[in-house]
Amino acid sequence: MKVLVIGNGGREHALAWKLLQSPRVEQCWCVPGNGGTALLEGCKNIPLAVEDIDGIAQVALQNQVDLVVVGPEVTLSLGISDLLQQEGIPVFGPTQLGAKIESSKSWAKTLMAEAGVPIAQGETFSNAAAAKAYITQQGTPIVVKADGLAAGKGVIVAQTVPEAYTAVDDLFKAGFSLIVVEECLIGEEVSILALTDGITVRSLLPAQDHKRIGDGDTGLNTGGMGAYCPAPIATPDLLQRVDKEILQPTVTALRNRGIDYRGVLYAGLMVSPQGEPKVLEYNCRFGDPETQAVLPLLKTPLDQVILACVQQRLGELPPLRWRLGTAVCVVAVSAGYPGQYEKGKLITGIQEAEAMGVTVFQAGTALEGDRLVTDGGRVLGVTAIRQNFSEAIIGVYQGVDCIDFEGKYYRRDIGHRARSRKG
Ligand code: AMP
Ligand code: GLY
Repeated sequence: MKVLVIGNGGREHALAWKLLQSPRVEQCWCVPGNGGTALLEGCKNIPLAVEDIDGIAQVALQNQVDLVVVGPEVTLSLGISDLLQQEGIPVFGPTQLGAKIESSKSWAKTLMAEAGVPIAQGETFSNAAAAKAYITQQGTPIVVKADGLAAGKGVIVAQTVPEAYTAVDDLFKAGFSLIVVEECLIGEEVSILALTDGITVRSLLPAQDHKRIGDGDTGLNTGGMGAYCPAPIATPDLLQRVDKEILQPTVTALRNRGIDYRGVLYAGLMVSPQGEPKVLEYNCRFGDPETQAVLPLLKTPLDQVILACVQQRLGELPPLRWRLGTAVCVVAVSAGYPGQYEKGKLITGIQEAEAMGVTVFQAGTALEGDRLVTDGGRVLGVTAIRQNFSEAIIGVYQGVDCIDFEGKYYRRDIGHRARSRKG
């Protein structure tokens, strides 16, 4: 089987790596890929932008690929799946309309309300004055969100009224025509990446991301600084409830709107101190870096699961098989990220890290001749799988310490919530 993976992050390196482990996958193309996918045996990069959906469809046609797996939300929200379906190419990822579950927060909130899914109370506004009046009435803390893709910069958790007003003004000034203002939920976050064929839903093991740049969850929001899986906050009881009260009703509501959603439904949940889950947001794709912690634990060949979704026969698939143990992924970033940072720094030590029994998923890297250099903010993620959480933490940091590039920064407290949970 020939597959094409779209995207250039650590998530896509992990997807290509996992797909190529299947005996049925002979060849993988990555568009545009990164230094890691370039070095992966059986994988070839094709330099096209993830927004160039016509170009990508051409590549899929020319190479007669059997399956396209879409990483980034932007490519889905531009309609890559609609285009590939018209060409008769099997694609894993929702259509443009389905991708609205991520690209429009107001649309997603209406859908979830219709489905009876627990969410934060809130309203959508098209002008600043009305939004501010609502904020004054509700008080703080309060959350202000852009109603569109904002690359992780569209959510402001405001502690004071002036801060919330500024967020409203900033988002309208940035060109968003709608914003959502909603109640601030308290608790612990967990990411449930579920796969669906539009009818049946199968959750992957639960993971927890670390979005802030600094230890102790301080500083600016990032794309994600590390993840671990399984996350003990998601007990079997909670997972069952999430399936029954959140995921399944959402897929049914999508179907009721005529949306045949085949892809990842990623629920970002807040679990209250009383153990009640509410949806903070849905994403229409795999999470990054959650994927780098979740997929290495999956024993069922990934192509099998994805094809079952694409061919709408997920219900016939036996239960997913998982490795025992815990996976922890720590992301190393360039100095200055998520602000300004330099590129082109030589990366060394990946082989030494891998010799210690970890897997390195590259993200912002590029090959310049035979030199591997930094090419982005999140440079790479190191994943360790060990029998238990404590050993995985030790293993992952031993791996991270082997790798060097000028300005390397990483969080030293990945998994701190799981550690405190274990007492
Ligand atoms: P993003 O992934 O950029 O959309 O950011 C979403 C993040 O904002 C979540 O991971 C939460 O940390 C935070 N967030 C979003 N909505 C709420 C809410 N209603 N209450 C508290 N935090 C929220
Ligand atoms: N890890 C957060 C995300 O993928 O959106």
